[in-house]
Amino acid sequence: MVKTKYSSVNNIDSIKSRSVLRVVNSAKTIEGEGFVVHRSFPTHFLSDFDPFMLLDEMGPMDLAPGEAKGAPDHPHRGFETVTYLLDGRFEHKDSHGHSGKLEPGDVQWMTAGAGVIHSEMPEKEFAKTGGRLHGFQLWVNLPKKDKMAKPRYQDIKSDRIPVVKSDDGRVQAKVIAGEAFGKHAVMDTRTPITYLHFTLQPGGKVVRPVPQNHNAFAYVVGGKGLFGADEKPAQREQVVLFANDGNEISIKVPDDAASPLDVLLIAGVPLNEPVARYGPFVMNTKEEIYQAIGDYRSGRMGQIDF
Ligand code: FE2
Repeated sequence: MVKTKYSSVNNIDSIKSRSVLRVVNSAKTIEGEGFVVHRSFPTHFLSDFDPFMLLDEMGPMDLAPGEAKGAPDHPHRGFETVTYLLDGRFEHKDSHGHSGKLEPGDVQWMTAGAGVIHSEMPEKEFAKTGGRLHGFQLWVNLPKKDKMAKPRYQDIKSDRIPVVKSDDGRVQAKVIAGEAFGKHAVMDTRTPITYLHFTLQPGGKVVRPVPQNHNAFAYVVGGKGLFGADEKPAQREQVVLFANDGNEISIKVPDDAASPLDVLLIAGVPLNEPVARYGPFVMNTKEEIYQAIGDYRSGRMGQIDF
């Protein structure tokens, strides 16, 4: 007998829509030289969501000339940082001689691995003139075997990020990692990661498969939506954690909604490994954290000298 995905609810391959585990508020916090971020986690409400260790939203804010701030030279080890910019311009440099600029729509996926010291600063001209700043930084943990990997950058300009619309035209997806509506991201990830930016017009609905073992969450960037099989409401600055009780995720916006829903949908395979974290280091044991601090302090992670 040929099994089909839809043949029976008892079938191991059957489709089941996930419910919502929790809706969590993000928390305002101060980063770098003193800019405000909306932090989804880690906060008092939520420490992490394996394999994701942090999600910050910078802005949206309108900066006066000279007001833009950044994060000067600082280290990372043991994970990846993913920076996605919607508005504003940033420049970065690191201890391996790498540098680059991030413009609206661009994504930088940095595998810190064994360690980098980098700076993430407003681009000089943008800092001078001011303007709108809006973006995100996600931290993706690395498995034990990859924590000391060679650092790597994937700097992806906005025109290489697929933008795809649903057949009814009510849903747009930017495919940063993974796949949506048949379009695949150019980003190469060490474990399977989904990172999609959806915009749903009133009456729009997203239904997409996500393997049951992947941890999945949504972050509401703007508007309001209904999430999961139980249609839990969530709005701007809230994080929606999906339960691992199904293999499909649904997000929708009522026909009479006042504005579109802007939402990030992020999913990945949990590592299920011990986590020891301290500031910019995410390792498996306390000893490895002490080692990271020692390596940083003694200059073994290098320095930015250009
Ligand atoms: Fe950083």
